[in-house]
Amino acid sequence: MKLPQRFCLAALPLLFCGSCGFSREPLVVPSDEKYTEQDALGMIKASRGALAPVYAPLAEQIVADFNLAEKTGVGIDLGSGPGTLIVELCKRTRLHWINADINPHFFPYFYKRAEECGYGHRVSAIFADARSLPFRDNYADIIVSRGSFHFWKDKVQAFSEIYRVLKPGAVAYIGRGFSQNLPVETARKVRAKQGGKRKYDVEKTANELHNIMKELGIKDYHIHRPQPPNSEKVNYGIWVEFHKPKTNVCGHQIADFAFFSKTCIVCSTY
Ligand SMILES: C[S@@+](CC[C@H](N)C(=O)[O-])C[C@H]1O[C@@H](n2cnc3c(N)ncnc32)[C@H](O)[C@@H]1O
Repeated sequence: MKLPQRFCLAALPLLFCGSCGFSREPLVVPSDEKYTEQDALGMIKASRGALAPVYAPLAEQIVADFNLAEKTGVGIDLGSGPGTLIVELCKRTRLHWINADINPHFFPYFYKRAEECGYGHRVSAIFADARSLPFRDNYADIIVSRGSFHFWKDKVQAFSEIYRVLKPGAVAYIGRGFSQNLPVETARKVRAKQGGKRKYDVEKTANELHNIMKELGIKDYHIHRPQPPNSEKVNYGIWVEFHKPKTNVCGHQIADFAFFSKTCIVCSTY
């Protein structure tokens, strides 16, 4: 009897692993999918496990620093994954929050979680590559991102997209790691659970972020390296906060700025 090809591919790993305690479901067909369900499940697990204490203090800090408590409009979390930060931001703001992520396998979990927490009506999710955001110019009241920018292939392009999508006067807060208000003992435990996997050169990343801001001509920015007292040996990560001005250098509204030709469409100032 001729077996269907799908069956043969599915059976192969079973033949080799039948007696070696291999318990995972074998892949039915080889997949070239880059952002997989497996990736999403791994990150969801981390967000509920080792990283769980990180999101609430971060949301608290973002809301306080950028006066979001009474603000209405739209916030985007770029590379939000499980959307845990969004749920915490929903608790503390009145904004509508969008999970913009390159891996849509996160979205069913994200919607379910938001629904369970009572925020189903205040969230959306959209497939998005940071290099080419699916939003019009001057759209968002705030853009945040945690633990994602180091994956972006073309960071200059991605940051220019964030800047394009920000409303005039709006702010972006992009980074990795923790917020200043995360207790040091908690931060230490999170890092211990992560093992050595998350080691990176903070100084080098700071330089990289400075260079990106310079290249994009963004002047109103600040690099944050959270370092609460007694946290010397704990890596709290790195963040960049940048603001889109309300007006051009010529004094006209920034909304009258043609992003691609880099000129003001009222007076053509370059
Ligand atoms: C380490 S996870 C962090 C998830 C979430 N921000 C958190 O802190 O729980 C990185 C996330 O960035 C997303 N990502 C990676 N590259 C991306 C890109 N080019 N554009 C948008 N999202 C991206 C991944 O799919 C994943 O959800």
